[in-house]
Amino acid sequence: MSGFPPGFLWGAATSAYQIEGSPLADGAGPSIWHRFAHTPGRIANGDTGDVACDHYRRWAEDVRWMHRLRLSAYRFSVSWSRVLPEGKGAVNQRGLDFYSRLVDHLLERGIAPMATLYHWDLPAALDDRGGWLTRDVAGWFSDYAALMFKTLGDRVPQWATINEPWVIVDGGYLHGVLAPGHQSAFEAPRAAHNVLLAHGAAVEAFRASPGPRAGGRIGIVINLEPKDAFSSSEADALATRRADAQFNRHYMDALFHKRYPSEELAEIYGEGWTAFPATDFDRIAQPIDFLGINYYSRGLTADDPEDWPTRARKVTNPAAQYTALDWEEYPEGLTRALTWVRDNYTSIPLYVTENGAAYDEPDTLDEDTRTLDDPRRVAYLHAHLRAVRDAIAAGVDVRGYFAWSLLDNMEWAHGYAIRFGLLHVDRSSLRRTPKTSARFYRQVALSNGSVLDSEVPRTETLEALPT
Ligand code: FCB
Repeated sequence: MSGFPPGFLWGAATSAYQIEGSPLADGAGPSIWHRFAHTPGRIANGDTGDVACDHYRRWAEDVRWMHRLRLSAYRFSVSWSRVLPEGKGAVNQRGLDFYSRLVDHLLERGIAPMATLYHWDLPAALDDRGGWLTRDVAGWFSDYAALMFKTLGDRVPQWATINEPWVIVDGGYLHGVLAPGHQSAFEAPRAAHNVLLAHGAAVEAFRASPGPRAGGRIGIVINLEPKDAFSSSEADALATRRADAQFNRHYMDALFHKRYPSEELAEIYGEGWTAFPATDFDRIAQPIDFLGINYYSRGLTADDPEDWPTRARKVTNPAAQYTALDWEEYPEGLTRALTWVRDNYTSIPLYVTENGAAYDEPDTLDEDTRTLDDPRRVAYLHAHLRAVRDAIAAGVDVRGYFAWSLLDNMEWAHGYAIRFGLLHVDRSSLRRTPKTSARFYRQVALSNGSVLDSEVPRTETLEALPT
């Protein structure tokens, strides 16, 4: 008994800026991440995406790895400024050709592509025109989306508009640790609204496009983090409510209930909060075909008047294990997130579009190293996949799981020191080496999850990858 329905997708996920490298090659324009990474002090160790995993040139090898892992799906993102160097207007055919070749290759190997249109790399030229702070971005985004539907819609069955609105807003416009690096409680709710409007506009473009073949599906990817109060105090309960509104409900309420959790958001953003035209929500909440959920951890929350602007601080659970990013390992949270969505928002098909963990691993390996043992990641995947199975057993319609990530890559402002890959990427040679977790995940995919009936396998019991 595997507990996973037939046809369940076993995938891995990546994003353009994190793996491609060659950000300005063949006529591409710069993105806000290219700019941000080249601004001193923004990224740990001064790392940039100039080389990344060199996937822009090694893509065929990477598809071969996916095949060796027996993946049935691959989630990647398109770099907007690679195909539209100025964000709008002139098309860069060589950029389109790159994604077209990648998609063809995936299909030849029986790997279903899932394309994300926006994974944080806004064309720099559009940032100069206001970026996510202007409503114009909805039109720019839907024009770009329409170009991609026309180009790849006959071959890509599944599209995600935006990856993780919360991170775009919180990292980019509220705390400024991610591109474009702004820090403003006034900008954050406006950027959030424009991100959601752009999503709605792209869904409209999809429905109107002749590109998508029959059965093509469109959705959005939301990151969810169940928030739990640290203590039973009234103050912690209220802080948890604010944290949940700011992180989870801001986006979910808009997409499925045509409203914002305004009471909490007004408390959080103060003068920065504003009402938005009611008609915008008809656009934002247009029916979608699936919802992607990214899950990494939960937020144990305590009241803290010093924590700007939510006054809710994430605190440590002394009883838990933590990953290299200091994220609590909490597999039950994934079951909870999936059932919470079904119970409170929607019964459309769900996909876990990202889940995974970073642990300390070496930057380089000896040339004759054949594998890297990562027992903690194997245990993490095992527990989280069982958590998905529990949600399915509870009747939630989950159709696929994408491990983050196929490759060790540029973990945004943390640079290359933080490694999430199933495949290790050597920082000097860029050689890919399968970790034990890659071998484990292959067994999961091959057995459609049956291996999860057994306890966490020992390394010696896992077959080597076929050549
Ligand atoms: C998610 C991002 C992804 C990666 C993982 C660790 O928030 O979507 O690009 O950084 O976290």
